[in-house]
Amino acid sequence: MEQNLDILRQEIVDKSLEAFREGLFSGTSGNMSCRVAPDEMLITPTSVRYDVLRAQDIVRMKLDGTVLEGGLQPSSEWRMHAAVYKAYGETNAVFHTHSPYATAFAVVRKSIPAVLIESCIFLGGDIRCAAYAAPGTESVGTNAIPVLRDRGGCTLANHGVLAVGKDLAQAYLRAEYIEDVAKVYTFSKVLGTPVEIASL
Ligand code: 13P
Repeated sequence: MEQNLDILRQEIVDKSLEAFREGLFSGTSGNMSCRVAPDEMLITPTSVRYDVLRAQDIVRMKLDGTVLEGGLQPSSEWRMHAAVYKAYGETNAVFHTHSPYATAFAVVRKSIPAVLIESCIFLGGDIRCAAYAAPGTESVGTNAIPVLRDRGGCTLANHGVLAVGKDLAQAYLRAEYIEDVAKVYTFSKVLGTPVEIASL
């Protein structure tokens, strides 16, 4: 089990750096976690630059906030991650980005319409926006619960993006597609009237 945890810690570090380089994270904002037991997760620490993040910096904690391992403070959004794990038993990874096109939809509090086939295949349809909640509060997570239903993610009003998955790879892929759909929709609006697709 310890070996698996170390592998997962390194996967979080590698994916965080990739997200930073891809522009899914901004500054030190954004965070990533994975569930390692029914009531336990590994999560990125708060306010650490992704280009200096190390595997030993990843915090192991219980969903009730008890820190089990790690010398740094967990992400300020740990309550949001915990709320999603408590509501969705099949979710084992949560990825919070600040990717700009999708976050723009969160600022105007509009859904990202399902305009690409990837919306159907990977995301479950349009990406809805969760009601606003003050950062760091459990409400950021509880407001996301209803709009996450049957979807691979949602946006958070005036805040960012949430992508979920059965593992880190799936949550990461979904975060990439959420940004891609938001970007393509924005470009297509310039050219004409985007057509939404309900199914393949
Ligand atoms: P931290 O994970 O560094 O606390 O980031 C906060 C954040 O992303 C707020 O949107």
